[in-house]
Amino acid sequence: MPELLRVGVLASGRGSNFEALAKAIESGGVPAVMAVLVSDRATAPALEIARAHGIEALFVDPKQYPSREAHEKAIMAALDERGVGLVCQAGYMRILGPAYIEHFRGRALNIHPSLLPAFPGLHAQRQALEHGAKVTGATVHFADEGVDTGPIVLQAAVPVLPDDTEETLSRRVLEVEHRIFPEAVRLFAEGRLALDGRRVHIRERA
Ligand code: GAR
Repeated sequence: MPELLRVGVLASGRGSNFEALAKAIESGGVPAVMAVLVSDRATAPALEIARAHGIEALFVDPKQYPSREAHEKAIMAALDERGVGLVCQAGYMRILGPAYIEHFRGRALNIHPSLLPAFPGLHAQRQALEHGAKVTGATVHFADEGVDTGPIVLQAAVPVLPDDTEETLSRRVLEVEHRIFPEAVRLFAEGRLALDGRRVHIRERA
């Protein structure tokens, strides 16, 4: 039996995407092991969710490090020590620097609540509403040096309804996030994602 992929998740807040990933792995739908949840915020609910699922919950306090680079290096070391082969950025609200990006190139996935390249950065759902978009959605992509710019793995569309508020739209976008993030991790774990420049090919199951 080949060894199972070990997944690490970075999350700064609520952790609903992390929980969707943890559940997908627990249910056997994704052939992987959830190795660790890392947060940069002591009070992140994601840490509690990890503990409730019996997953190691690691708070790496940015205040304990002299620079952003040093904090990031500590996170990288923690992930490496746990044999993490794929990092999922699930609402991790810090910019990740070039050392991290290079180290995890092709092995780090980020989820973003819009159909990229539309509406990158903060408040993607609010941006979609303010722009008057009729359709938005969610994107899972490989991390690269930019903000929400890396090669796209999966996307799913969500209609913007006439009475939508940021809250109602975010709720419906979140539902598709919880579907496509575990799906992307499954494809990665099955070795079915092939990077070709900006394009990500999804291979048929062997
Ligand atoms: C999610 O909507 C995720 O797409 C978004 O933060 C939320 C985290 O929710 N990420 C970004 O906007 C990154 N640019 P969660 O903590 O419940 O998973």
